[in-house]
Amino acid sequence: MRRMRRDDFSRRLMREHRLSADDLIYPVFVLEGEGIVQPVPSMPGVSRMSLDKLLEVAEEAVSLGVPALALFPVIDSERKSLGAEEAYNPDGLVPRVVNSLKQRFPELGVITDVALDPYTSHGQDGLIDASGYVLNDETLEVLARQALCHAQAGADVVAPSDMMDGRVARIRAELDAAQQIHTRILAYSAKYASAFYGPFRDAVGSAGNLGKGNKYTYQMDPANSDEAIREVALDISEGADMFMVKPGMPYLDIVRRVKSELKVPTYVYQVSGEYAMLKAAVANGWLSEQACVLESLVGFKRAGADGILTYYALDAARWLKDGA
Ligand code: PBG
Repeated sequence: MRRMRRDDFSRRLMREHRLSADDLIYPVFVLEGEGIVQPVPSMPGVSRMSLDKLLEVAEEAVSLGVPALALFPVIDSERKSLGAEEAYNPDGLVPRVVNSLKQRFPELGVITDVALDPYTSHGQDGLIDASGYVLNDETLEVLARQALCHAQAGADVVAPSDMMDGRVARIRAELDAAQQIHTRILAYSAKYASAFYGPFRDAVGSAGNLGKGNKYTYQMDPANSDEAIREVALDISEGADMFMVKPGMPYLDIVRRVKSELKVPTYVYQVSGEYAMLKAAVANGWLSEQACVLESLVGFKRAGADGILTYYALDAARWLKDGA
């Protein structure tokens, strides 16, 4: 085996997987205002920013060849409510940001998150009953309005991350009825109830609202694998175009099973907690950043991912451009 590993030329010739900027999606946090860049303490190198600053980041993404951004809004607390009405306000933050991004950078893919947690006063992804239980079918109606609102603002891809049952079918019907026939649906099909989302909830400011609450009644149990295949199969039948496994590094087996068994466009989310772990070890001088990050990303490709959402997307694209 070592003959082929001996020289760079033969290592290159037998390399099975390659990472490129084409594989990357960059998640970004946006808030109201102008000239605002607020670093997220638990995610060094990541900031919440206002639209004007986000446009600069988008320009960099385009110049590095990163195909798409995934947009996450930070909503002012006075706009949060029990009914999450702000989620489908056509003059809201997300539709305005989508509109500006698409006008300035028509070639850059814009993905919006469809879920109610940035908009609910309790931080859950859906509407709740008096006992706090997240209601399924009532939530679908709001998600459908939210997805349509994003599509009408120009979003290329709507990405339901709420884990309600039947949401892909409901959103697809809503989009079709309004002639939004080109909007892709990226379904967060296998989204686990993970403790690795902590820093994200700090970033979007839903951690405080959620308090001691959890998402166990709708996100998946980390102990399950067959259930993920069933979730993806349902989303295929309901009309999704792309399928997400989330989180990433602890769930590579799920990525592999989805790709091998269902053969669909498969995406993986290297979530905030994974990013925070890498950053913390790097900050302590315990890990070498570029090598470890690129190794983690090519690992996703090896597991079968067609694309990777990562807070390292711009760094990775830059390192690859510089010949890493
Ligand atoms: C919620 C949502 C979450 C993330 C993306 N969308 C967190 C959650 O379910 O509480 C997490 C992403 C990350 O941790 O990087 N709709």
